[in-house]
Amino acid sequence: MNLWEALEKRRSIRKYKDTPVSKEVLLKLVDAAKLAPNNANVQPWEFVFITDAGLVSKVNEHIRMTMTEYWSKARVEELPEEKLKKIINSTTNLGPVPVYLLVCINTSAGKMREDYMKWNDMWNHYSTAAALDNLMLAAVEEGLGTCWLGVPSWNTDKLKEELAIPNEVDIISVTPIGYPDEDPAPRPRKATEEISHFNKW
Ligand SMILES: Cc1cc2nc3c(=O)[nH]c(=O)nc-3n(C[C@H](O)[C@H](O)[C@H](O)COP(=O)(O)O)c2cc1C
Repeated sequence: MNLWEALEKRRSIRKYKDTPVSKEVLLKLVDAAKLAPNNANVQPWEFVFITDAGLVSKVNEHIRMTMTEYWSKARVEELPEEKLKKIINSTTNLGPVPVYLLVCINTSAGKMREDYMKWNDMWNHYSTAAALDNLMLAAVEEGLGTCWLGVPSWNTDKLKEELAIPNEVDIISVTPIGYPDEDPAPRPRKATEEISHFNKW
């Protein structure tokens, strides 16, 4: 598969087959992730794969809890109860998920320089986001689906404790990984001309 095919084929997948994903394939995804450009090559990323069924349920519960909080409290607009339930279910009721990947930043990375201390958080987020995008494209090549979930990066204290994730490591996003059990249509994008500027705005 060439790069353009992978770019065009990738979708956020929210329904997965129960088929397990081999450790070998998961490590291949990390091989792709770590090739991403990153701040001063400090490689602040860490990848925690959750494959144990009991722990997968715990992550699922965490996702449901944070999504519910987001949709019912953090959003500015008031949503009718029924609509709220529907949205929460559509984004949290992922069914069987063979693997969750917790994408993390090791905040101690790159702290050796004072100027990095000041900007560290932002650079590390940029770099790890770039790595996650690499990983998601490599997943397409392997026939796997993913779905970048930002909201579960909130309120992670309990989850981190359960998974023995150290204090200095932040979970910045979560993605299920598995063989897709849906084939969603591409989500619309703005026209290229509308978002492209040459020489001045
Ligand atoms: C930073 C970021 C955070 C996201 N957070 C969530 C999320 O919390 N829940 C969710 O269901 N999808 C989330 N998504 C997925 C987007 O909704 C999705 O990428 C977008 O609607 C475009 O659809 P596509 O990925 O199929 O092209 C997130 C994506 C990004 C890049």
